[in-house]
Amino acid sequence: MPSLAVNIDHIATLRQARLGKEPDPVTAAHLSELAGAQCIICHLREDRRHIQDRDVDLLRATVKTRLNLEMAATDEMQGICLRTRPDIICLVPEKREELTTEGGLDVASRVEELSNYLEPIHAQGIESSLFIDADPKQIEAAAKIGNQYIEIHTGHYADAETPAQAKAELEKILAGIRLAQDLGLKVNLGHGLNYVNILPFAKVPGINEYSIGHSIIARAAYVGITQAVREMNDIVRGFVD
Ligand code: PXP
Repeated sequence: MPSLAVNIDHIATLRQARLGKEPDPVTAAHLSELAGAQCIICHLREDRRHIQDRDVDLLRATVKTRLNLEMAATDEMQGICLRTRPDIICLVPEKREELTTEGGLDVASRVEELSNYLEPIHAQGIESSLFIDADPKQIEAAAKIGNQYIEIHTGHYADAETPAQAKAELEKILAGIRLAQDLGLKVNLGHGLNYVNILPFAKVPGINEYSIGHSIIARAAYVGITQAVREMNDIVRGFVD
């Protein structure tokens, strides 16, 4: 059965709007776990716009499921990863001026560099994932790097403006999932997924995990985080293995 990983960055975004202490993403992580999330994700960005170093430390000390640290492939983040030891990291591209992660990582042009970057991380038993577009060139490159997982970027599908565009993007993702599985990679999906646009994945076999943040936190503003996570978890747990 696929699992749900909850990204709690946007709780931190709300806290940082007043540079205060509330709401605390660490509390949101604990409530998400109690509501059924099987992994907690946070993205420590270079500009610290939402998640702070203190959050990563506290999450590492208290998350009882799995902690996934999303990060750019920089020296600073490698040091933080080796010190805090999340269960898994997800390498993402990062640009200061973007609102959120805009596209997949270009792995194809950096196979050797990323393999070297991940070596000390893997040596500590920390797993890794690469956030990439559903592009065969990127998926084939990811399979050469020696990491266990990829996360296929679903943002283009989620942002499609017409049903025809959404269908075309969905087909690219489905082909990408099949290729990755043939190459022995475990496949996660994420970005822009919500309670409705996730449904076409219900019958797709072998998806390991869904990484979801914004739609859950937005719903939590109305119904509370426990209910928002539980509802998404019920959807995901109804999907085929
Ligand atoms: N996966 C990755 C790699 C991301 O960068 C993000 C956004 O932080 C997500 C998943 C979650 O996306 P969303 O907040 O749109 O659900």
